[in-house]
Amino acid sequence: MIHARLTGSGSYLPEKVLTNHDLEAMVDTSHEWIMARTGIAERRIAAENEFTCDLAERASREALTAAGIGPADIDLVVVATTTADQVFPSTACLLQERLGISGSPAFDVQAVCAGFIFAMDIANRFIRTGGARRALVVGAETFSRIIDWTDRGTCILFGDGGGAVVLEADETPGILSTHLHSDGRYKDLLCVPTGVSRNYEAVQSGSAFTTMAGSEVFRWAVTAMSDLVAETLAANDMTKDDVDWLIPHQANVRIINAVGRRAGFPSDKVIVTVDHHGNTSAASVPLALDESIRAGKIRTGDTVLMEGFGGGFTWGSVLLKL
Ligand code: COA
Repeated sequence: MIHARLTGSGSYLPEKVLTNHDLEAMVDTSHEWIMARTGIAERRIAAENEFTCDLAERASREALTAAGIGPADIDLVVVATTTADQVFPSTACLLQERLGISGSPAFDVQAVCAGFIFAMDIANRFIRTGGARRALVVGAETFSRIIDWTDRGTCILFGDGGGAVVLEADETPGILSTHLHSDGRYKDLLCVPTGVSRNYEAVQSGSAFTTMAGSEVFRWAVTAMSDLVAETLAANDMTKDDVDWLIPHQANVRIINAVGRRAGFPSDKVIVTVDHHGNTSAASVPLALDESIRAGKIRTGDTVLMEGFGGGFTWGSVLLKL
């Protein structure tokens, strides 16, 4: 039986740091309020001439180096993003060209903050069915471009970044299971209400911004990600004690802590990196994973439960043995 095994990870954060004190000068807020409600101290903002594919490329090159392979070894590229460089071609195709790969499939996945989990599920299926042997799976976003920087209800939360992993076909797992969900009935609670086909003028005038019903999204995120832990453990006939690390979507420290508490995980088994990069949407989980691997916290042999939650709503998990 073929399994998909993670053999390398990488990440990249843009240089520019935007602190809560910087935000105090932009909107009516305070460092203390943001820390108390979100636990986010700072986030990164892409330079004017820096785009999602640039972040994806940096993260991908690191992941390839960590895996000890070159771009030519990759036969599938999946990029999760909501903030593509262009309407088309996909960011995955742009990334493929940057890396000097050609011929094998490359495409984007749009599931907002759950995008990386959806992309992992797809790459896992390709590998398990023999459709690919070495996949590059990326989550990258310049979310700052779809944020209204005069809206204190949203601008304090988000940031830019990229994360990537290499998955390779192997006889031992690997990805143990994936679980995906969506419910479009909640489309209005977290969205950018304009796009290419609808009200394109807003896109052209640079006012296609994220809107959010904060407290409802908060409650939903906690419930969905807590339920996902139970669903994932049950599907694998495991208990929480069989899992070494929980990586919930890095949206807000209060959401992460609530999910950890409800799922019965001690806080030292729950990964938190959102404090220093904010919510980077599809990049949040691979960023948190890569940072924890590089810090020597998450190690080979560990079992890791990763979760995403985003607009749609979309939500999902990946259980992985490193
Ligand atoms: N600074 C200061 N005050 C702020 C503020 C800010 N940045 N943003 C909102 N407020 C105010 C509100 O105007 C409100 O004032 P009022 O009581 O006078 O009307 C008050 O703070 C409370 O607002 P509320 O929205 O109830 O706060 P909250 O505790 O729900 O926190 C969020 C707001 C956005 C931090 C929180 O709801 C949240 O994190 N939600 C989830 C968001 C998320 O993670 N989205 C992405 C998921 S992928």
